[in-house]
Amino acid sequence: MGCQMNKLDSELVAAQLEEMGCHQTTDSAAAEIIIFNTCSVRQHAEEKVISKIGQLKRRHRQQPNMILAVIGCLAQRLGQELLRCHGEVDIVCGPGRLHQLAAMIEEALAHRRQLIALNDRSENNLLEEFDCSRPPPKGNNPFQAYVRVMRGCNKFCSYCVVPYVRGPEECRPLDNILAESRRLVEAGVKEITLLGQTVNSYEFSQNGKMLGLADVLEAVHQIHGLERLRFITSYPRDFDERILHAMAGLPRVCEYLHLPAQSGSNRILRAMNRRYTVEQYLELIERARQIVPDITFAGDFIVGYCGEEQEDFEATAQLMQKVRYKNCFIFKYSPRPGTAADKKLADNVPDEVKRQRNTQLLLLQNQISEQLNQRYIGQEVKILVEGPSKKPHLDHPRQNGADRIQLIGRTPGDHIVVFEGGRDLIGQIISLKVTRASALTLFAEGEAVAMGKN
Ligand code: SAH
Ligand code: SF4
Ligand code: F3S
Repeated sequence: MGCQMNKLDSELVAAQLEEMGCHQTTDSAAAEIIIFNTCSVRQHAEEKVISKIGQLKRRHRQQPNMILAVIGCLAQRLGQELLRCHGEVDIVCGPGRLHQLAAMIEEALAHRRQLIALNDRSENNLLEEFDCSRPPPKGNNPFQAYVRVMRGCNKFCSYCVVPYVRGPEECRPLDNILAESRRLVEAGVKEITLLGQTVNSYEFSQNGKMLGLADVLEAVHQIHGLERLRFITSYPRDFDERILHAMAGLPRVCEYLHLPAQSGSNRILRAMNRRYTVEQYLELIERARQIVPDITFAGDFIVGYCGEEQEDFEATAQLMQKVRYKNCFIFKYSPRPGTAADKKLADNVPDEVKRQRNTQLLLLQNQISEQLNQRYIGQEVKILVEGPSKKPHLDHPRQNGADRIQLIGRTPGDHIVVFEGGRDLIGQIISLKVTRASALTLFAEGEAVAMGKN
């Protein structure tokens, strides 16, 4: 559950357990070890996992050899409380101790006792080794991989639990990022997404020189065989223009910026401790458009934050209209225990109002996405083919033989494209003409031309 950081952690954990002799199963009833990698960012995310844990209570009693591990951000937030209140949980492991999970599982299997490991900064070297020794991705999509450039977050936006559960920001050495990326590309990875909660804040001092994200982009971009390079998520402050120049000048760096604004009202931004104004945010968007003409933006917004009045909400809708994001993630404010907002501000917007504002913004963004997507009709787009589309999108699939299936891919600007083609295209970069567009998807037709390069 949760963000891309968690997805990466899950992959690393799965690889660690496979090395220990475990096999992954898609049949949860057959599993002997069940691990929940949890998220704490909103109450709803926590409730979902707590209910899943509860559902396993009986099974755990009946199947005494089963191991139930809760790892990740909620494990870190609740710690001992999880073990105390949920006797069925065997292991609690924070995101900063995942390198120890395999040993903990062995110990729990051998001695049948509850174990806990919470974040501990003195373990960070081991965590770094854990990242560095990861095997290449397997499974359905071995062409795409996440690479962490930093852990944690120092921004302390007043609503956010991440700095508490992931700990302070720590940037990884460029050499380690490069070595990891090289090994991934050698193993067949074509697209790397660099991860950080505020990825543009990356700073690492090497040989007396302070390196930034632009240096990471330049270095990773040089890896022979890498066809695409992305980075998420950016913080709209202290944004080094060199990053924009790297996006414009390095052909394999995708022209896509996930730049959450959170609100369009300066009053609310102040209350959120976001440390920028709407004007500064718009200036950055403008500058990015000047330097990287084809750039697309994705955003995040929180509605119903403490004290949000109708006029604040309208300012958010206005900002959305001004930026014209490709897509936006919109969340209802959810108070998080321990955060500054939870301690000092009243969660005073009724849930019904949060819901209405959420729906209104979703509708608005949908209109914008649909309008923007229409512009692609008739254009050629370059897509990295990711795999079969999970649901049938095309109304009347052509019967050109059983080897043609509905595939899904992404443009450098992160547009999802659905088209028909052979399985052999998976993992390739191809060029196709867009024939139709909805708010969420572009549809393409024609004979795919393999490009090899982005
Ligand atoms: N590091 C990233 C994202 C962090 S969490 C960033 O700073 O942009 C992902 C998103 O969840 C945030 O962008 C925010 O929109 C949302 N979010 C975080 N805390 C929240 C809360 N307490 N209630 C509702 N949404 C929240
Ligand atoms: Fe949370 Fe703010 Fe850090 Fe993003 S920048 S993870 S919203 S504290
Ligand atoms: Fe959730 Fe933790 Fe990510 S709280 S959003 S999984 S950093």
